[in-house]
Amino acid sequence: MVKYLYKLAEINMNFLDLANKRYSVRNYKDSPVPKEQLERCIEAARLAPSACNSQPWKFIIVDQPQLRNHLAKAAFEGLLDFNHFAFSAPVLVLVVSQKQKISAKLGGIVKGRDFRLMDIAIAAEHFCLQAAELGLGTCMLGWFNQKKVRKTLSIPTLERVELIISVGFAANETTPDKKRKPTSEISSYNSFS
Ligand SMILES: Cc1cc2nc3c(=O)[nH]c(=O)nc-3n(C[C@H](O)[C@H](O)[C@H](O)COP(=O)(O)O)c2cc1C
Repeated sequence: MVKYLYKLAEINMNFLDLANKRYSVRNYKDSPVPKEQLERCIEAARLAPSACNSQPWKFIIVDQPQLRNHLAKAAFEGLLDFNHFAFSAPVLVLVVSQKQKISAKLGGIVKGRDFRLMDIAIAAEHFCLQAAELGLGTCMLGWFNQKKVRKTLSIPTLERVELIISVGFAANETTPDKKRKPTSEISSYNSFS
């Protein structure tokens, strides 16, 4: 950990730099991703906060080339072809939702909130930010064929894959400018407007 903080300082990248550096990479180099790097991303996701500390996630890393091809085909063919770029990613990570603690589930029902999806989104972003810090590109993919993905990896029908994250080294080294709403539109102090 200390070694990594040092590395961040060394390349002079603070948190906002990192948040800017992460973007959705849609074209990948044909180079494998070292396992230690993937493990570091999983560790970052593991440390994410969650409602009642439920940690309702499971990450399935698909890096075996034949299986990855098979999975990309199952996930993104047909109507979902706009995500075809995912075929170029050497790694696809499935984020599967898992049981919440009963307190988080009941709290969610009472409050009409889906805490599980919030938890998964936070963990996925931890994963992607860690990847960016390591010089890896990612893209979160919410559009995929759920049934075919489950079938390809023999995931039981009751399980739900919430996201797929494509991972690899970006083919293009330049970070695009962020298209974001202005701060004044997304925040206010002490009142709604
Ligand atoms: C929950 C979620 C689902 C997404 N699904 C897709 C997708 O299916 N295909 C895709 O190309 N991008 C997808 N994206 C990426 C967004 O389009 C992208 O994050 C957004 O346009 C902002 O761009 P940036 O990530 O480059 O900063 C998804 C992002 C999130 C958070």
